[in-house]
Amino acid sequence: MKQLNIGIAGLGNVGSALIQTVEENKNYFLNKTDVSLNIVGISAKTKNKKRNFNISNYAWYDDPREMSKNDQFDVIIELIGEEKGISYEIIELALRNKKHVVTGNKALIANHGKELFELANQYSLALSYEAAVAGGIPVIKTIKNSINLDKINRISGILNGTTNYILTKMQEDNLSFDEVLKIAKEKGFTSDQESKLDIGGYDAAHKLTILSTLCFKSNLNFNNNYIEGISNIKIEDINFAKKLGYKIKLISEACIIENKISNFTSPKLVQIDNPLASVDNALNAINIETVHLQNLFLEGEGAGGKPTASSVLSDLYDISQNEKFDNLGFKIDKLQNYEKYSSENIINSYYLRIMAEDKPGVLSSITNYFSDFNISVKKILQLPENSDVDKPIPIIITTHNVKKEKLSNVINKIESLDFVKEKIILLAIHDN
Ligand SMILES: NC(=O)c1ccc[n+]([C@@H]2O[C@H](COP(=O)([O-])OP(=O)(O)OC[C@H]3O[C@@H](n4cnc5c(N)ncnc54)[C@H](OP(=O)(O)O)[C@@H]3O)[C@@H](O)[C@H]2O)c1
Repeated sequence: MKQLNIGIAGLGNVGSALIQTVEENKNYFLNKTDVSLNIVGISAKTKNKKRNFNISNYAWYDDPREMSKNDQFDVIIELIGEEKGISYEIIELALRNKKHVVTGNKALIANHGKELFELANQYSLALSYEAAVAGGIPVIKTIKNSINLDKINRISGILNGTTNYILTKMQEDNLSFDEVLKIAKEKGFTSDQESKLDIGGYDAAHKLTILSTLCFKSNLNFNNNYIEGISNIKIEDINFAKKLGYKIKLISEACIIENKISNFTSPKLVQIDNPLASVDNALNAINIETVHLQNLFLEGEGAGGKPTASSVLSDLYDISQNEKFDNLGFKIDKLQNYEKYSSENIINSYYLRIMAEDKPGVLSSITNYFSDFNISVKKILQLPENSDVDKPIPIIITTHNVKKEKLSNVINKIESLDFVKEKIILLAIHDN
């Protein structure tokens, strides 16, 4: 029997769920694997907080760093979630004291992972992070182990449950972004602090940074991301997209173009028959396109205590079984510093909503600009929404593939026309 002596720093959603799961399944784990998960010490901010397990079963540490230094621990699990600060200190200390580390902290890995992976490598230790991307979906191990030798061409997905819940609710209940955000906060799906990271697209971009490192050996560099959140998404656009056969989703996508890294997180129109369009509410999904697999689609619970604890458990099992740890699925010296691909060079098809005066000649003037710039229009919808002639009406245009830079030039021209009354809404369309 192999015993892992474990210290857990952070007893919130994930830490508590992990302890409950281990308590409830200890014998099952032991019978199945001959591995005993022995939780020795725990730490959180407030000792006398009500928890859903009995803290007196474990040694309590006011300062989690003391566990990182203590010889009786084999593994330290960091579930506090600070981007640096105490979370970084716990992990660094644990590695320097020859302990394996498991974390669910994507912000920390995306921003400071490189030096920590170097440290883990120096001491031949595990720094495991399955829980950091898409909660309970085993995407890290799939890339690192299962398809490690299959060249990945592109990875894309829905990596943030809160934003997916908001967009789903807007569409289903015909509510505005602000109305749904209020509901999400009331239901405890997101807090004021978390919602900035979620809605701004940063949380998804943290996860994409990690995925693009695993897929393309690109150095962990959060600055390589283009990030646009969902706070400007209007219910009108969700409804027009629906009429055209699309749903709006926050899509994160990474690939290499012309030997440069392209990491994008932005709201996109997704065709209704694309599997990503059916991923609703708080679910996450990832689609991996490789040389051998056209679409490897993983879908599941991307957040929540129990699903995320499941990923932590799988990391613990790996640690118990291995003596060598390629934490990235390749040697750390293979990491490459890619240049960032310019967003203006991206070629995509687009959705535009132009709010213009309802008068003769408007539509033809607009379409003339598209033909002058040689941009191929796929569909046009002109939808008079009211009988009030003074109010602008929406003109919806979708394009075929076009370079973003070229489209930006046309948009600037059209926005300067006196009959165009608002800033043009522009959203990319996700190709299948
Ligand atoms: N929740 C999810 O669905 C999910 C999914 C994937 C990944 N993750 C990641 O998993 C990690 C944990 O998330 P969570 O949702 O469980 O967080 P959480 O509920 O906010 O819990 C954070 C825990 O850290 C403790 N803590 C804060 N400062 C501390 C300090 N200075 N010393 C010791 N403990 C301290 C808190 O103590 P108190 O309890 O005393 O306040 C709390 O127990 C984060 O990195 C998160 O990004 C979470």
